[in-house]
Amino acid sequence: MYNSKIIGLGYFVPDNVVTNDMLSEIMDTNDEWIQERTGIKERRHVIKGEDTTSTMGVKAARIAIERAGIDKDEIDFIVFATLSPDYYFPGPGVLVQRDMGIKTVGAIDIRNQCSGFVYGISLADQYIKSGMYKNVLVIGSELHSGGLDMTTRGRGVSVIFGDGAGAVVMTREEDNSKGILSTHLHSEGAHAEELSLIAPGMGKRWVLDILKDNDPDDESYFPYMNGQFVFKNAVVRFSEVIMEGLKANNLEPKDIDMLIPHQANLRISQFIQHKMRLRDDQVYNNIMKYGNTTAASIPIALTEAWEQGKIKEGDLVVLAAFGSGFTWGSAIIRW
Ligand code: UT7
Repeated sequence: MYNSKIIGLGYFVPDNVVTNDMLSEIMDTNDEWIQERTGIKERRHVIKGEDTTSTMGVKAARIAIERAGIDKDEIDFIVFATLSPDYYFPGPGVLVQRDMGIKTVGAIDIRNQCSGFVYGISLADQYIKSGMYKNVLVIGSELHSGGLDMTTRGRGVSVIFGDGAGAVVMTREEDNSKGILSTHLHSEGAHAEELSLIAPGMGKRWVLDILKDNDPDDESYFPYMNGQFVFKNAVVRFSEVIMEGLKANNLEPKDIDMLIPHQANLRISQFIQHKMRLRDDQVYNNIMKYGNTTAASIPIALTEAWEQGKIKEGDLVVLAAFGSGFTWGSAIIRW
């Protein structure tokens, strides 16, 4: 059995900055409310026609591959996590394979929302551990802005989410004390609809129903979140799954050099930091600049932290996520 490790990281965010004040011009919201409840100051929105979920993923992937020092033809498998795919089907993994001119390797799409990147890391880790693949490209990318209700009706959700992409290249590591030490994944479908986008789907709102009803007031096209319920579950599950990962490796919170929490809400990150008694330099947050970019938030934050020299060889890096499903997970990494 091998271990896997991250050897290249990259991210891409659109240039178009949308501040809280800009949102307050199109809906009944304000900078004070958004910052106080979420910590978000601004986010990026794609200008239609300039990018898609998959093209942002490609841009992040190109940087990650270059930094990994490998050729794209050495990629053995593609993992793409998103809740906002270019198409209903096929998923964006194959679009990356096409657009990057990667040879006809397998490409899989992950539908685990905010936890998608951690699920993706876990999947890649298993493929590499078993020896099946050597180099795996893992991408998390979201284009939320094209699907948000940008009116006062949708303000509880639409001020939170932003667009962007992050990617990593993972490869084989012969030393079992390095790289991904373990991953821990969970789900609780009992709360599936508490953070969801119902239509179009083949459950409650068929495409045929939507066409038949042609109802402009139909909210099922837009993401729904029971914010306080999600918040309460998030703080519990984040803490649990970080502790589960640490315990599995005989580690404690004080051993963490860098915790990269999924950027759901700055208040959630601060709650976890406080609960685990971590210093400011042990936790990386960038939700202030980008909002919640769902599957992209961890790889964007991980890349930024690495670029800023905050992650060094030998460091204990912990990734943790919670979101729609509910799903949650952690990855414990010796860098
Ligand atoms: O990434 C996946 C995981 N996601 C999360 O973990 C998010 C978890 N939840 C949260 O972060 C928070 O629940 C929110 C930030 C989404 C909302 O904060 P909250 O403190 O739970 O607010 P609320 O939904 O209870 O709304 C409080 C008030 C309401 O008004 P009334 O009923 O008290 O008069 C809302 O209508 O704030 C109002 N409100 C807003 N006001 C100004 C909701 N959204 C806005 C807004 N601007 N954008």
